[in-house]
Amino acid sequence: MEEAHQHGCKGGVLKKRCRVGEHTVLRVPAGRRDGTVSVEQDALDNLPPPTATAQQLADTFFARKFLTLDEMVVLSGAHSVGRSFCSSFFDRISPIVDAGLDPAYAARLRALCPRNDTPATTPMDPDTPSTLDNNYYKLLPQNKGLFFSDNQLRVNATMNALVTRFAANEAEWKQRFVDAMVKMGHIEVQTGRCGEIRVNCNVVNPSSSSPVVELVGDEDAGAVAAS
Ligand code: HEM
Repeated sequence: MEEAHQHGCKGGVLKKRCRVGEHTVLRVPAGRRDGTVSVEQDALDNLPPPTATAQQLADTFFARKFLTLDEMVVLSGAHSVGRSFCSSFFDRISPIVDAGLDPAYAARLRALCPRNDTPATTPMDPDTPSTLDNNYYKLLPQNKGLFFSDNQLRVNATMNALVTRFAANEAEWKQRFVDAMVKMGHIEVQTGRCGEIRVNCNVVNPSSSSPVVELVGDEDAGAVAAS
């Protein structure tokens, strides 16, 4: 068992296990400071919309956050888990069906979402909705990428070559996904006394006014204890 202690802003010596979907656990550095508030507008300002073109995805988000075009394709594979509301793809199914969407898939989506604001959700990967796998890259050439932005990965030759490659080689994609997730985790982290090291990565700490958290290192258990 390895033991490490961290205080304040220093981070990164410990590996933590992060659960994604039902079967996947990623090992990522622990000790990063996270924010203690969530503001809806921040997400809108910082994340690309599902209507983004390939050029917009590359220019306005990934380049601004120092991620490469390759990493954008790699990270997009995260859409092999999770769900979406109708509003994120409604303009692809109504009033006319987007040419880049499989007609049978579009018909199912129209049945689920008669209106833009129908409060229903659908998995982004209908085949294996809660397994983080390379199925996203297999869906795209079948015109079953849910968002316009997903389908845009195919309009650029460089990106489309990666889509084909990751569809054929899951092990390579998984390795590159972990690397890109770790890199993304270093973007605009909180420093100094801003934010806090989370005990549970999904939620702010029970008492989010206490910035000092001690990490008790157990590589396998990924234990993180508050002091
Ligand atoms: C390439 C640009 C991206 C666009 C345009 C995009 C867009 C979206 C949209 C519109 C949704 C559905 C939101 C809703 O209807 O509630 C979504 C969900 C999701 N996205 Fe992305 N995304 C992008 C990149 C990423 C990246 C880089 C990751 C992670 C590495 C990611 C992970 C997810 C996950 C896990 C969900 C499901 C959330 C849930 O089930 O609650 N996305 N994305």
